[in-house]
Amino acid sequence: MRPAGASGGPGGAQAGPSPSEAAVPGGSQYGTTRTGNRQAGPRVFSGIQPSGDLHIGNYLGAIRGWAEEQDRFDAIYCIVDLHALTVEQDPARFREQTLETARNLMAAGLDPERCTLFVQSHVVEHVALSWLLQCTTSFGELRRMTQFKDKSAGRDSVSVGLFTYPVLQAADILLYGAEKVPIGDDQRQHLELTRDVAMRFNHRYGETFIVPEAVTPKVAARVMDLQNPTAKMSKSAQSPLGTVLMLDPPDAITRKVRRAVTDSIGQVAYDPERQPGVATLLEILAATTNADPKALAGEFSGYGELKNAVAEALVEELRPVRERSRELGRDPGEVLRALRDGAARATELASMTLARARHAMGLLDAG
Ligand code: TRP
Repeated sequence: MRPAGASGGPGGAQAGPSPSEAAVPGGSQYGTTRTGNRQAGPRVFSGIQPSGDLHIGNYLGAIRGWAEEQDRFDAIYCIVDLHALTVEQDPARFREQTLETARNLMAAGLDPERCTLFVQSHVVEHVALSWLLQCTTSFGELRRMTQFKDKSAGRDSVSVGLFTYPVLQAADILLYGAEKVPIGDDQRQHLELTRDVAMRFNHRYGETFIVPEAVTPKVAARVMDLQNPTAKMSKSAQSPLGTVLMLDPPDAITRKVRRAVTDSIGQVAYDPERQPGVATLLEILAATTNADPKALAGEFSGYGELKNAVAEALVEELRPVRERSRELGRDPGEVLRALRDGAARATELASMTLARARHAMGLLDAG
């Protein structure tokens, strides 16, 4: 019962539903996560590692956009704990970080009533599909991944998981028939691989997966480090001053912004090549105020003035997030309940896709 190769969505990769699948609520072979009073739009899927305390790079570059998309799309967001295990984690700390990440995502506006929020390892189908896709991916393809090359360089021991990481990511996306995948620039290559693997699988075994497309936010797709503005903002940066955390109190935000590295040119212009520090500040301001960094540059006569504006905008933007995080911290049960419901919804969808992929590859049904 191989699904017919009728073409559907914009990628032309959507299979026609078989009679049993057509009975799924929502009518699509990929089902629907929505039971509310709203029509679901196209499906989006994205993932984030459970690093616990998120920074404004995560927030402005990803999460805020995710929150905005909840009502326009059928949105599924995943805390990718299995991806994080590709490097060694301290077990007790790791568990906490996962919960903390969930809490902070909810604080930043992801509403479990309006999107599906879950933890990757709670849905075992990710690992199962990942194996099927590993057998559809070549060693050479994975060896070319720049993230693998960067992360493995100079280490004497690298886990196999770090190597197969992009295949698990492909499984994440393909399990849900996601049409759009909001990602930062550094994940484009992984999305290309996902598309290649999906197309190859469809070609070999019959139309099974929707071929997804990457979407990147216009501004602040990557927020740079305030101390080292040619590097992406990251929790593991050399100086903590370069990274503004989403839950930093106002005085810490202000201090970090005031001490941001600029240059000796002395003119506020948006020129990421010549003035990376100033450009970073303008990009942050642009992202928080939904403006254009070039247009904003003309509004400031000096760096001090620009920094004050950036600090003020960030403090205001993050104030409600901090408050909500504090509230949720008082009731961890609420976060756990949301994750449990999210995993149940995700499992329904994922198990249908896994069954189709198993069948397409010729694995014997368990009966
Ligand atoms: N690899 C992504 C990152 O490090 C996280 C991720 C895992 C992801 N699975 C995904 C992103 C699926 C988008 C879709 O940022």
